[in-house]
Amino acid sequence: MATAPPPYAPYKIAGQTVLITGASAGIGEACAWRFAAEGCKLVLIARRQERLEALAAGLRQHYNVAVHTVAMDVRDLDAIARLPEELPEEFQEVSILVPNAGLALGVEAVHQLRMEDVRTMLDTNVLSVVAFTRAFTPAMVQRNAGHLIFMSSIAGVEAYAGGAGYCPSKHAAEAFAVAARHDFVGTNIRCTSIQPGAVKTEFSMVRYKGDEAKADAVYQGIHPLLAQDIADNVLYAATRPLHVQVASLLVLASHQSSAKGLARVVKQG
Ligand SMILES: NC(=O)c1ccc[n+]([C@@H]2O[C@H](COP(=O)([O-])OP(=O)(O)OC[C@H]3O[C@@H](n4cnc5c(N)ncnc54)[C@H](OP(=O)(O)O)[C@@H]3O)[C@@H](O)[C@H]2O)c1
Repeated sequence: MATAPPPYAPYKIAGQTVLITGASAGIGEACAWRFAAEGCKLVLIARRQERLEALAAGLRQHYNVAVHTVAMDVRDLDAIARLPEELPEEFQEVSILVPNAGLALGVEAVHQLRMEDVRTMLDTNVLSVVAFTRAFTPAMVQRNAGHLIFMSSIAGVEAYAGGAGYCPSKHAAEAFAVAARHDFVGTNIRCTSIQPGAVKTEFSMVRYKGDEAKADAVYQGIHPLLAQDIADNVLYAATRPLHVQVASLLVLASHQSSAKGLARVVKQG
């Protein structure tokens, strides 16, 4: 009779400091709850301070973890560069970086693109991700440990009509994640890129600039992913044994085959 293998031992991240940008809503907020449940210390970043504080209070109460919030615009690259030294000492050793803040603005075709929106997407989705990684990896290299978990998108591996601003920004962020993995190949720093499909968050309200009907239509007739589903993938990557590097995870809704390939349930009558 064969003997059962020993139980698989996930990597324990309790006590580690996790920095999450875009923690005031959606995927970032869901990640904060999951990392708190694992006993991690948290640095939470977004612009909406009251949301961050309410979240921090909930996390402290439910999981008794240390949480530090930073209300900032992640397009401020100088502020990002200063951040590692400005964090309170107990939060300075960031082990897991989740530069998740990001957005899509508009669905205009190429000839109608609003350049201001394109700039906002590139600044938020690309430059801020590069700046956070640049700011927090020197210490990871020194400690020879750390995990970068990038929030890419299916729009980082595929381009679609109406995505001429967003898709290039996510492709650039995806390329950055791959380049980082090459740069750190000789170290114990792991690089993961999560590529979600359609997730129901505030994302579409932001994309359609508050037009609720258009935002709702995105999810009509489908069973979209939820923020918690993506947080689960982030936690999966973070808790694999140290010899395992989840390089990328493309996660779609069950009735989704591509960015726009969504089977919608057509109501009869
Ligand atoms: N939802 C989807 O279908 C989907 C699919 C694939 C990938 N993604 C990616 O997942 C990530 C999270 O999106 P989500 O779906 O969770 O959207 P969301 O619910 O709109 O959350 C976006 C988060 O990013 C923050 N943020 C945006 N611009 C910021 C800025 N300039 N400075 C600081 N924080 C900023 C927002 O906080 P404040 O407004 O408080 O600053 C918010 O916390 C994004 O990178 C997005 O591209 C989403």
